[in-house]
Amino acid sequence: MRKLLASLAMTLSAIGVAHAQMEGDPAAGREKAQTCAACHGQQGISPSGTFPNLAGQQASYLAKQIMDIRDGERNVPQMAGQVDDFSDQDAWDVAAFFSQQDPNLGQANPDEELVEHGRELYRAGDMAKGIPACAACHTPTGEGIGTAVYPALSGQHREYVVSTLQAFASGERSNDPNAIMQDIAAKMSDTDMEAVANYVFGLH
Ligand code: HEC
Ligand code: HEC
Repeated sequence: MRKLLASLAMTLSAIGVAHAQMEGDPAAGREKAQTCAACHGQQGISPSGTFPNLAGQQASYLAKQIMDIRDGERNVPQMAGQVDDFSDQDAWDVAAFFSQQDPNLGQANPDEELVEHGRELYRAGDMAKGIPACAACHTPTGEGIGTAVYPALSGQHREYVVSTLQAFASGERSNDPNAIMQDIAAKMSDTDMEAVANYVFGLH
C-alpha cells in the first residue's frame, strides 16, 4: 500500500510539473503575436469560423495548446512553423496577451428547438447517452476554469466548435488529459454538436 501511494504521489507530481503554470508577460506576448493576426485576428477575434478565437481564453489553456502544437501533441497543419521556435516562456507570454483581450460576443441562431437542445446538453448533459453536463467543467457562463485548464467556450465560433468536437470524436485530436473530451464527443451526434456549438456561441 505504501509503495502504491508513493508511486501515485510520484505520478501526481509528474503531472504537476507538466502543468506548471508560468507567469506570462502580455507586453512581450503582443510582439510575438504579430504573426498570429492573419488567422486569429489582431485582438484574438478571428475573421473566419474555422480559426478559433483566442481573445479572453484562459491563459493556462492557451499556453498548453501552443506547447502541444509546438510539440506535435496536437496536429494543426495550418500552423506549421508558427510556434516551432517558441520557448515555454514565449507560449505563456502570448497566452497572457490573448487572455487579456475582450472575448467575442456571439449571437446564437434563435431557433427555439436548437437553442433548447443546446441548453439542455450544456447544463444537464444527456443521462441516457452518458454525456455529462458541459457546465460542470466549462462553467455555467462558459468562461472555463484557468487553474484546472478547462477552456472557455463562450463566444467561440460554431464552425470551429463542431470541427474540434468531431476531431475529438474521431481521435484525430487527442491532447485532452485522460481522453476526457474524446470520450464525451464520441457519444455526441452531429445534431448534439451543432446544438451545443450554437448555444455556447451566444453564451456569456
Ligand atoms: C495560417 C493560419 C494560422 C496562423 C498564422 C496561426 N494559427 Fe493558430 N490556429 C489555426 C487553426 C486553423 C487552428 C485550429 C485548428 C483545429 O481546428 O484544430 C489554430 C489553433 C490555435 C490554438 C488553439 C485554440 C483552441 O481554442 O484550442 C492556439 C492557442 C493558436 N492557434 C495559437 C496561435 C498563435 C500563438 C499563433 C501565432 C504565433 C497562431 N496560432 C498562428 C491557424 C493559424
Ligand atoms: C470533466 C470536465 C469536462 C466536461 C464535463 C466537458 N469538458 Fe470540454 N474540455 C475539457 C478539457 C479539460 C478540455 C481541454 C482539453 C485540452 O487540454 O486540449 C476541453 C475542451 C473542450 C473543447 C475544445 C475547446 C477549444 O477551444 O478547442 C470543446 C469544444 C469542449 N471541451 C466542449 C465540451 C462540451 C460540448 C461538453 C459537454 C457535452 C464538454 N466539453 C464537457 C473538460 C471537460
